[in-house]
Amino acid sequence: MSESLNPSEPPSSEHRSSDDVAAAFARARRVRGEPRFPDGPQADPAGSHFERRIRSFQPRRSRVTAGQAEGLQRLWGRWGLDIDGHAVDLRELFGDERPVVLEIGFGMGEATAQMAAADPATNVLAVDVHTPGQGNLLNLAEQNGLTNVRVANGDAIILLREMLKPDALDGLRVYFPDPWPKKRHHKRRLIQPEFLDLVATRLRPGGVVHCATDWEPYAEQMLEVLDAHPEFENTRTDGGFAPRPEFRPLTRFEAQGIEKGHVVNDLLFRRVERRP
Ligand SMILES: C[S@@+](CC[C@H](N)C(=O)[O-])C[C@H]1O[C@@H](n2cnc3c(N)ncnc32)[C@H](O)[C@@H]1O
Repeated sequence: MSESLNPSEPPSSEHRSSDDVAAAFARARRVRGEPRFPDGPQADPAGSHFERRIRSFQPRRSRVTAGQAEGLQRLWGRWGLDIDGHAVDLRELFGDERPVVLEIGFGMGEATAQMAAADPATNVLAVDVHTPGQGNLLNLAEQNGLTNVRVANGDAIILLREMLKPDALDGLRVYFPDPWPKKRHHKRRLIQPEFLDLVATRLRPGGVVHCATDWEPYAEQMLEVLDAHPEFENTRTDGGFAPRPEFRPLTRFEAQGIEKGHVVNDLLFRRVERRP
């Protein structure tokens, strides 16, 4: 007999133990979009999937390993932040006054953890929608004794727009954002004029936006929109791309791009007071 998928209707318990029934009921509840990790990240905290807006990421239901699931369950309450639209005080979140850099799209988080370990004077708020990566980064933070990493779950646009105060950030990192190579998908690319308008309100003057990509047409687009924006200036005096700075480790996605023969470009632009 098939199990009921309606959480308000427990599955038939005629020939089952109460444990079987509870397990089937829990599975059925999950099908209805309940969180997979009761003490971990919420499935879609701000309901961004239902917002009428083009998103820069593809919702994926990726497999979470036992180790990642264990990290999500155990560490989320301490170091996790659901992007639910409520204002967040970064000093309270980190419990100190170190400057805060936001990283959007950390993937599996290896580069994030390495950078946080190399620069303990900076707090890193790392945001992604990718559940296995969230578990991986939490585990890496614990294994390396990092007190300066927090993991945010959900859409970075909502975090920036609804939850962070003006000038809250000291820096922004966007490493290998989804390139959306097809023309009809270009509107999904994160680095666009409207995104930079939003970033300019949340990044303090002097803070740096650091982007990197292995997709050359996207690199050109990034350079064009950052150059054209009145509140950002290129840190390169020649006005071009930067080579990978020593402080940025090779990322997982970057390594795959290099394997395919792609050229990597970094861009470092400083937030300035609005140019007339
Ligand atoms: C191509 S991967 C790169 C991951 C990592 N930076 C690397 O270089 O290996 C891009 C990541 O950005 C995340 N992402 C894209 N748009 C996002 C958004 N609006 N908010 C949060 N994460 C986003 C995706 O889920 C994905 O994990």
